[in-house]
Amino acid sequence: MKDGLHVAIILDGNGRWAKRRGLPRNAGHRAGMEAIKKTVLASCELGIKILSLFAFSTENWKRSQKEIDGIFGILRDYLDENIEVYKEKGINLRIMGDLSKLPEDISKKLISAQEETASCDKLIVNVGINYGGRDELVRAFNLLLKEGKSIVSAEDIKKKLYTHDLPDPDLVIRTSGEQRLSNFMLFQCAYSELYFPKILWPDFNKKALKKALSVYKKRDRRFGNVTEEKK
Ligand code: FPP
Repeated sequence: MKDGLHVAIILDGNGRWAKRRGLPRNAGHRAGMEAIKKTVLASCELGIKILSLFAFSTENWKRSQKEIDGIFGILRDYLDENIEVYKEKGINLRIMGDLSKLPEDISKKLISAQEETASCDKLIVNVGINYGGRDELVRAFNLLLKEGKSIVSAEDIKKKLYTHDLPDPDLVIRTSGEQRLSNFMLFQCAYSELYFPKILWPDFNKKALKKALSVYKKRDRRFGNVTEEKK
């Protein structure tokens, strides 16, 4: 299970997708949710083992209350409509981030969805909600300090990340053409391949995912080593 491909996606472009159609931003997020559904199913079909999605960052609280309420409303609907599908398809939902700041009904739903799908092992969908890479590292260091550690190793830090039991992402996709990590899985993405397609997130689908995988397959991953022919 843990040896398959780990694809991480920074969902970007919902707002621009809506603007181009003269629609409110939350219509873009709702279309973005449809793209999440398609991408989760496509990931199952394509044999991806872990799909990490950056849905709501620690910085997204700066958006208008109307947009934040819209996003959480969409997330609420997504959970209500999809947990049975996850169980049927063998998908384990996991959340990374600080759930204590979310509306209480949503954090409860997220906790029970994680418990209900914990034994599913076809695909892990690991969603970042109120997640930030720096926050995750600060949390990890504080946990280690609490344990009385004064010197720490990379292994110690990894053990305290939300993804302590998952391999690092092989491929990070950020849609909409922006070329930044924006505080996403900073420790875990040290050696990930990065891919920045122009497609806006609501237009993302199985075809776009297959294209990303074909780009990834052509990459030469060296992890700091040299290629065979240069040795
Ligand atoms: C990025 O586009 C999108 C977001 C920050 C929010 C994503 C949220 C959802 C798809 C809905 C609910 C989540 C789940 C897990 C079902 P943007 O708004 O930054 O786009 P822009 O850069 O074009 O303005």
